[in-house]
Amino acid sequence: MISRSDFGADFKWGVSTAAFQIEGAHGIDDKVPSIWDEFTHRKGKIHKGHHARMACDFYNLYPQDLDAVRNLSIPNFRFSLSWTRIINRDHSVNEKGIAFYNRILDGCLARGLEPWVTIYHWDIPHFLEEKGGWTNRDIVSWFGEYVEVCAKYFGDRVKHWMVMNEPMVFTGAGYYLGIHAPGRKGLSSFIPAMHHATLCQAEGGRRLKFLLPQAEVGTTFSCSHVEPLNNSPAHQRAAVKIDALLNRLYLEPSLGMGYPVKDISLLSRVEKYMKAGDEQMMAFDFDFIGVQNYTREIAKRSWMIPILFATLVGAHKRKVETTLMNWEVYPASIYHMLKKYGAYEKVRKIYVTENGAAFEDSLLNGRVEDKRRVKYLHDYIAQVHRAKQEGVPVEGYFVWTLQDNFEWAEGYRPRFGLIYTDFETQERVVKDSGYWYRDFLEEKIVIS
Ligand code: BGC
Repeated sequence: MISRSDFGADFKWGVSTAAFQIEGAHGIDDKVPSIWDEFTHRKGKIHKGHHARMACDFYNLYPQDLDAVRNLSIPNFRFSLSWTRIINRDHSVNEKGIAFYNRILDGCLARGLEPWVTIYHWDIPHFLEEKGGWTNRDIVSWFGEYVEVCAKYFGDRVKHWMVMNEPMVFTGAGYYLGIHAPGRKGLSSFIPAMHHATLCQAEGGRRLKFLLPQAEVGTTFSCSHVEPLNNSPAHQRAAVKIDALLNRLYLEPSLGMGYPVKDISLLSRVEKYMKAGDEQMMAFDFDFIGVQNYTREIAKRSWMIPILFATLVGAHKRKVETTLMNWEVYPASIYHMLKKYGAYEKVRKIYVTENGAAFEDSLLNGRVEDKRRVKYLHDYIAQVHRAKQEGVPVEGYFVWTLQDNFEWAEGYRPRFGLIYTDFETQERVVKDSGYWYRDFLEEKIVIS
């Protein structure tokens, strides 16, 4: 039996969101377009042509959403700032955007909620993408200036910062595969984007810490436990490469270990973009890392994939239990990732800043009986406890996400929320999983 108190009184329980996925209010109060505003207008990029012009209308409905967080007894609320509301095209500050986030922060504090802020959750201004976006080294100063504005205006109230959300996903899906904004493809986009994101990750940390020495400064990483298809050496080598790509690429440079070039030789192409001193610039001593885990991956050797010679075996081919994203339900993945990251000497503290699942939810007579999500959260939280008991310095857990929202290229189809969103009426209905999480946090139920 595990109850909330078994994690310790200081363990941070929370829920995570991201600006573009919930805010809506496209173009309101002089917000400039982001790469995602632009991408969602392109034909064929998003499931059924969905867009996020309204999303969950959090821009207007935030009072009721923050009330819901409080009513579910969730003490910590993670959200991201939208660069495009805060910085104008001429690089001046948009006071209306600042005022909006002031309302959110004050709204959190008035309700006794602790705000956790992500500086960048994938929505770079389109006017910067026109200059090359993440592939242009100037982004180090563009990003640095934006970070300083955030610190200056919000640092009096924000004590927990995350510089970035999942750089592997926004560079991999956005600059290599082309399935996320800005839809660019190939190594010639990916490698410079990767290098500049790595530099910005550390630079953002440095600027925050310099301006706000008392604040807790971290950054987040996507990760999946990787196993080889079987014990053959070829598949094992493939698993090492995939693991390096998915789980080590952005973490290790921040720890001063450089890129994992030994395991992925194609990364040596980054030399073209490296300048003297970059190895040091890529490193920053973060107070914590955010671990974001949903699933596990199985890797195999493949002749079909040039350069890497490794690929993933999709969950559908393995006949395992999956979520609506076609991601395997595999609770021990989070345990393995926490153990792996906890074993790095320089990783001081870990928060699970995202974990959750999309399932087929239906609203019937005012209720959403999402049994599978309840089980998913139950089983993953139990694995977090297992890692903690074994000495991993994991100090928090945040569910992804508060309410069903705009799931990037998948549009509104996958529902990840603890709260059901009716996207026609903007009505919200707390799902059974929301009540389950509340009851767990209120210590009315335990994990068995
Ligand atoms: C991202 C979220 C996303 C979630 C589910 C994470 O990769 O940070 O923005 O909605 O996973 O796909």
